[in-house]
Amino acid sequence: MSNQYLKIIGGNSLSGRVEVHGAKNAVLPILAAGILTSEDVIVQNCPYISDVDAMTVLLEELGAEVIRNGRNIIVRGQATHARVDDLHCKDMRSSMFMLGALLATLGEVETTFPGGCSIGLRPLDIHLDGLKRMGATVEMTKSGIRCTAKSLIGAKILMKYPSVGATENLMMCATLAKGRTTLVNCAREPEIISLAECLRSMGAKISGDGTSVMKIEGVKRLFGTRFSPIGDRIVAGTVACATALCGGDVEIDGANVNHLGAVINCLQSKDCKIDGDDTYMRVRSTGRIHGVHAQSAPYPLFPTDMQPQLLCASCFSDGVSVIRETVFENRFAHVKEMQKLGAKINVCGDTATIFGCEKSDSPYLIKGGSVVASDLRAGGALCIAALKIKGESKVYGVEFIDRGYERIEDVFCSLGGYVLRTKDR
Ligand code: EPZ
Repeated sequence: MSNQYLKIIGGNSLSGRVEVHGAKNAVLPILAAGILTSEDVIVQNCPYISDVDAMTVLLEELGAEVIRNGRNIIVRGQATHARVDDLHCKDMRSSMFMLGALLATLGEVETTFPGGCSIGLRPLDIHLDGLKRMGATVEMTKSGIRCTAKSLIGAKILMKYPSVGATENLMMCATLAKGRTTLVNCAREPEIISLAECLRSMGAKISGDGTSVMKIEGVKRLFGTRFSPIGDRIVAGTVACATALCGGDVEIDGANVNHLGAVINCLQSKDCKIDGDDTYMRVRSTGRIHGVHAQSAPYPLFPTDMQPQLLCASCFSDGVSVIRETVFENRFAHVKEMQKLGAKINVCGDTATIFGCEKSDSPYLIKGGSVVASDLRAGGALCIAALKIKGESKVYGVEFIDRGYERIEDVFCSLGGYVLRTKDR
């Protein structure tokens, strides 16, 4: 772990206006889709985050030309070889989006097993099952997986779980397969719809995106496009959660309030008003958090990528919260960090019970201190907690935060928080 950390002095309320840019989890598959055509695919409003940087390097290593022009990224040309370098598999799950696109264009793809990550094993069985049903041969190699397909045939695929990445891989593969592919029990996330919209703008024939049954008619070729992905609902949700916790009045531009219904249901109360439309959100809060019951699940239910933020905020509530993580098997790393600061949290299996420090019959103090983020969203969550705590905290693991949050210190400083990126001497 690097010696870099965010020094945060909490206790301020937040007010002002921030803008969120293209959603990481839409930009990444859309960049991968860029190699489905030899023409230019221009992805607009891309965030400056390290996962996007890594994806552009990966695309270049596969033989495509990638040109970054401010927030626009141009993917030019197609991949020329099919081996996804294991550097990327280990450090970034997103290289998995290349499976479908490479198989559809080169008829083969070879990759090492993606590094699991701190939140779970992240297997690929649903991806591979779907590719096999479309005619791919999948074999295990010494270091990973090799998929080949002389030709890809549309198939009816029942997905055992609405995996986001598997849905995206199978969508991309199906756009150039022969005939119709039907994905049953596919993911419904807004990022899936954004990818489908981009693929349609490239000439793909896709319907049913955003529902549990998607139909893709294969076409002979796809064309270039210029496309702007949806705004990042998780970055917006993180700022909304921070405002609910710290109090204040914040407008978040570029976010679609309708993409965060389950999160708003948890945050909205007599002390927190959230409104907006498909272009912005506004959060007004007294800074008083109440106990909440929530369970992460596939969209449109509560997003797992907001579970750490809600759990950390709940530590400051006036009641007891129960939060269950059903999507990933190991996504409570932030709990021990909050316990280091004095939070009272019990974890039993996939369920955390949080006794808020403002609980009327037994209030207690959560104090500032040093905490370590071990994954991206835990990092955002620990920043939120530090912004609430009067006094100084240090959040290590900034390299994880930078994977999905663009200059998080600037976001919260612009709203009146004190966040300084620094390092141990
Ligand atoms: C995407 O990951 C997101 N990443 C994740 O965001 C997000 O948490 C996740 O979807 C769920 O919404 C990107 O889009 C880059 P899944 P993905 O396949 O596609 C199991 C963030 O912080 N599974 O929907 O990898 C899997 O183990 C990241 O931005 C299988 O069992 O998620 C997990 O338990 C974190 N077999 C569950 O499904 C498979 O073949 C959901 O995984 C595939 C998945």
